[in-house]
Amino acid sequence: MIALTRAVSPAIARCELTHIGREAIDLDLAYAQHARYERALADAGCAIERVADGEDLPDGVFVEDVAVVFDEIAIVTRPGAESRRAETPGVVRALAPHRPLARIEPPATVDGGDVLVVGRRVFVGRSSRTNDAAVTQMRTLLEPRGYTVISVPVRGCLHLKSAATALDEGTVLVNRAWLDSDPFTELELVPVAPSEPGAANVLRVGGRIVCASAFPETRRLLERRGAHVVPLDMSEFAKAEGAVTCCSLILT
Ligand code: GLY
Repeated sequence: MIALTRAVSPAIARCELTHIGREAIDLDLAYAQHARYERALADAGCAIERVADGEDLPDGVFVEDVAVVFDEIAIVTRPGAESRRAETPGVVRALAPHRPLARIEPPATVDGGDVLVVGRRVFVGRSSRTNDAAVTQMRTLLEPRGYTVISVPVRGCLHLKSAATALDEGTVLVNRAWLDSDPFTELELVPVAPSEPGAANVLRVGGRIVCASAFPETRRLLERRGAHVVPLDMSEFAKAEGAVTCCSLILT
């Protein structure tokens, strides 16, 4: 496995924010948390490949939004926030040796955080960042390759993966308040702890579930189900409206 990551930008304080207010980000703590995140991915069996630093990419650490990686192809997104479109060239250079690349074209916009892949199902969140044209383009790219693309209305959070991520090929951890769960009827849905609405973003990698340590009740719930859970302090990324999946692209 390879995990593509990108260094935390010294400009992260100017990151995009949609659903939360701005709070001071401790840059040294963010660097330390990012190093621990990379170590957790390495411990799970990933070789870490760093995307070249961007000199002024406040949200650059959130590489997940810039591409969606499948076994057959990687789709380079067109991020919904214009300020984030400069993030794509570095990610393209890092992905090109590993996958044939396809691109989302205007007028479509999509953030990778809105794309949840569960087996051959590709759920695409309709959020403030991702539009119907992107759903159509993803369908054109993926359905000939045997995937089903399913649009999911999202509300009250930034991305679909703020509200739902996969625990395995048949199970999804969800905050039902932030999405329309009808499209997930064939999957088992595990609700987050009611006191932890932000806990649905977890990263499945190497047989482990990486999650934010800010959500201990959901962590216990996952451990009771037998998951090998790796909690990480992601406090400075949460202030930038990011979470565990946002900080890597995993290539298997
Ligand atoms: N700060 C993450 C985003 O809004 O894209």
